[in-house]
Amino acid sequence: MKVQIIHAHPEEGSFNGAIHTRIIEALSCNDHEVADLDLYREEFQPILSRTEWANYHDTTKNTNTVKSYIEGLLWAEALVFCYPTWWHGAPAILKGYLDRVFVPGIAFHLPKNSSQAQPGLTHIRKLGVVTTCGGSWLREAVYMRQAGKGVVLQALKPLLNKKAQCIYLINYSTDKASANTKENFLRKVSLTFSKF
Ligand SMILES: Cc1cc2nc3c(=O)[nH]c(=O)nc-3n(C[C@H](O)[C@H](O)[C@H](O)COP(=O)(O)O)c2cc1C
Repeated sequence: MKVQIIHAHPEEGSFNGAIHTRIIEALSCNDHEVADLDLYREEFQPILSRTEWANYHDTTKNTNTVKSYIEGLLWAEALVFCYPTWWHGAPAILKGYLDRVFVPGIAFHLPKNSSQAQPGLTHIRKLGVVTTCGGSWLREAVYMRQAGKGVVLQALKPLLNKKAQCIYLINYSTDKASANTKENFLRKVSLTFSKF
């Protein structure tokens, strides 16, 4: 399977950096073709510019500034996102990737007579998301009602193939986690993506 990884963490030596490495290793061992997009390493520019905003709905122009990222998206049969949870969602650099690359005509279609977006990424049959939270399960899952997961399942997944499978792994209380707990999560990541 052709898998596009989208990773967003500024520090390679971080826990998310280790998760990212495990994902690549596990997928590569399983004969997948892997394209790794490390948004910080690429110094991805996350700001949707004034011109991009003006051309947002013009499908003849709205991919002009992000062509290589669009190519990756159209090449992929599976997407894997890996990022720390910041402000209950994706870091700004990843949010900016979605703003600029998941444009109408590619990621979704907006029919003239409906406000309901139609999926554009129907060639994508698998979605993997791995994220970490500093907050506890009680705070993030109960009080904050898994805000980040809601975006993935209710906004991102509906853009893919109707039968697309979704894997969502989350580690809570990461900042206070012991080395052992972190290693267990890394093992879970390896196991999950070795069967992806
Ligand atoms: C800007 C920023 C915002 C954050 N917002 C949240 C949050 O909303 N919920 C949460 O549980 N943790 C939050 N955290 C904590 C991170 O999720 C946590 O430090 C990270 O998952 C640990 O992974 P790392 O060691 O790979 O960075 C935030 C951290 C930063 C730097």
